[in-house]
Amino acid sequence: MAPLLQLRGISKFFPGVKALEGVELTLRPGRVTALIGENGAGKSTLVKILTGIYQPDAGEILIEGRKVHFDTPEAAQRARITAIHQETVLFDELSVAENIYLGHAPKNRFGLVNWAAIRARSMALLHSLDAPIKATMLLKNLSIAQRHLVAIARALSVDSNVVIMDEPTAALSHKEVEDLFRILARLKASGKAILFISHKFEELHRVADDYVVFRDGRTIGAGRMADATHGELVHMMVGREVDQVFPKAPATIGAAILSVKGYSHPTEFDNISFDLRKGEILGVYGLVGAGRSELCQSLFGMTHPSAGSVAIDGTFVSIRSAADAIKAGLVYVPEERGRHGAVLAMPIVENVTLGSLGAVSQRGFIRAAEEFKLARHYAQRFDLRASSLSQPVGTLSGGNQQKVVIGKWLATKPKVIFLDEPTKGIDIGSKSAVHAFMSELAGQGLAVLMISSELPEILGMADRVLVMKEGRMAGFFDREGLTAETLVQAATGNMGALR
Ligand SMILES: Nc1ncnc2c1ncn2[C@@H]1O[C@H](COP(=O)(O)OP(=O)(O)OP(=O)(O)O)[C@@H](O)[C@H]1O
Ligand SMILES: [Mg+2]
Repeated sequence: MAPLLQLRGISKFFPGVKALEGVELTLRPGRVTALIGENGAGKSTLVKILTGIYQPDAGEILIEGRKVHFDTPEAAQRARITAIHQETVLFDELSVAENIYLGHAPKNRFGLVNWAAIRARSMALLHSLDAPIKATMLLKNLSIAQRHLVAIARALSVDSNVVIMDEPTAALSHKEVEDLFRILARLKASGKAILFISHKFEELHRVADDYVVFRDGRTIGAGRMADATHGELVHMMVGREVDQVFPKAPATIGAAILSVKGYSHPTEFDNISFDLRKGEILGVYGLVGAGRSELCQSLFGMTHPSAGSVAIDGTFVSIRSAADAIKAGLVYVPEERGRHGAVLAMPIVENVTLGSLGAVSQRGFIRAAEEFKLARHYAQRFDLRASSLSQPVGTLSGGNQQKVVIGKWLATKPKVIFLDEPTKGIDIGSKSAVHAFMSELAGQGLAVLMISSELPEILGMADRVLVMKEGRMAGFFDREGLTAETLVQAATGNMGALR
């Protein structure tokens, strides 16, 4: 079939970085093309060029054989290209329906915005996504995953020929991913060309017909998915062999450090009890909206419980703020980088040492050399890709921002750490580095609570798994003999959930 969209020799340079250098890409109608590459390979930069956010420094874009230029995002939208970005900008104070139709609202015959139509269409879209969200809800009341579903609905609300998805499943759990894949199949059947970006290879093998691999801003290979093995793709991407998941090394599990009993919240979760022990990784699994992040945020002092007790090392504590939590030796690494995780305008080095200034400052002066040493240590461990440690975090690629956030909190040397989707958006090579590091810290006696929606990560890393469903505990399992089916069944209460 004739290509719908073709890129020839596209280049994009930033100060000190060649983000893209002469890349080639072809998208065909009715086919899903996987764009594969390490953190910082240039994937999101390409998406921004295709949607008119950045202009390329060289190369051309052809739609059905005709050259086009996108000076603005509107121009790309008129050419019927739409994208779900890695970090979609939505508006907190607006409703879900307004967020979906902002900028392309249906109008009535008097040219006025047709609110009834907006609400009805939003509801239909959310329904087709099986999203448990009301069109009239304010965005600020949604969880990250729910916001993601709104971003997906927004992209689908425009009738486009080319649909680009930049890590659409990063914040979704099993069920939502299945729903999204059903929609993807529908889009494909209706003849759309789809560009799909993900670090999860199981997904790529499942949904993609074709692939393109980028490495350091260049096209390394392209072809049919069926003709490439997993190993070949990974090799093209990182240039070496990689272990998929790093299994946790056996550690001596000690006494309970954190004891949570009957812990409840007015709206988010109810009657949660568990012990988190020294040297242990406790996995927390559940669907989007199960209350996992809300539980951690509350334990970290960001919201207040309505009942229950928390003890650290056998002493009851009352944690009323994040500062209290940090003082008690607790650290929370959030899922969302921008909001709580990193100061995007500040350089890498200051972000990494922000939480642990005590370790590098002397009599109030921050010793620059020490600060750089600490930042360099984490940068090397996690294979951080940046032009220098002075690069502002906001201009790093998504996965590299996540590495900075993890490094920043680990540098504080906590007793207990809550990791919320720690490897979200991190590429396959760096993922095993993060897992190895977690394992090492647990070996040194750190107690880790890890929220993850990735079953291989939970099964590979967790000593025990707490499953949450609709704010309640739905199961507690030991690592031994634990299967994906057991976890999915507990999380959904549905035998047939794992298709
Ligand atoms: N606005 C910017 N200013 C400076 N450098 C930038 C900017 N945007 C991107 N870069 C750099 O361009 C390179 C490619 O980044 P990009 O976000 O495209 O990577 P990616 O393939 O999407 O990675 P990830 O898998 O982590 O999302 C990175 O080195 C990044 O730091
Ligand atoms: Mg990206």
